[in-house]
Amino acid sequence: MGLHVFQPVELDDVLEGAFRFGGETWALLTAGNENKANTMTVSWGGITYVWDKTCAIIYVRESRYTKEFIDAEKKFSLSFLNHDEYRGLKKYLGSVSGRDEDKIANAKLNLNFDDGIPFVDEADNVLICKVLYRQQMKEECVTNGRVIANFYDKGNYHWFYIAEIKKVMIR
Ligand SMILES: Cc1cc2nc3c(=O)[nH]c(=O)nc-3n(C[C@H](O)[C@H](O)[C@H](O)COP(=O)(O)O)c2cc1C
Repeated sequence: MGLHVFQPVELDDVLEGAFRFGGETWALLTAGNENKANTMTVSWGGITYVWDKTCAIIYVRESRYTKEFIDAEKKFSLSFLNHDEYRGLKKYLGSVSGRDEDKIANAKLNLNFDDGIPFVDEADNVLICKVLYRQQMKEECVTNGRVIANFYDKGNYHWFYIAEIKKVMIR
């Protein structure tokens, strides 16, 4: 019999910190180089621990233009902006593709660079990440059909990227 009393709490009440994902929080995933870069809104992801390193994990659908930049450079940044102030940008950068418009210019955002890796100058907090592992999710690996029904009825499976956090920056 247990000696201690445990009580359930809301997960949201115990998760905190500058680099939270999901719920109301989101980040701008940016990749590319000094000549050309792209950014997109992400809310899926997290901080994880693997291979004796603290890493970031992100989930990027096959179709995203930003994915091409991540794969070319094997590096990316996650920029966390003030959620209220930039609420409108979250939608714009998360629905229009950089294939069709220069999103960064249209959003009136400025890029800054850390060792050639672009990040958003308007951010409060930034993670600079180096990809260690990437893999696309597969239908045959999904163990609950609702996941396919809810997210993959048109395919376009997410790739997940586990990336070493090279630098944490706070403005
Ligand atoms: C709040 C929010 C969160 C999003 N999170 C993700 C995500 O985690 N992964 C993903 O692949 N797309 C996500 N998206 C969708 C992309 O941001 C969207 O498709 C974007 O237009 C892709 O831009 P790109 O083609 O220029 O890369 C999200 C969109 C919104 C509005």
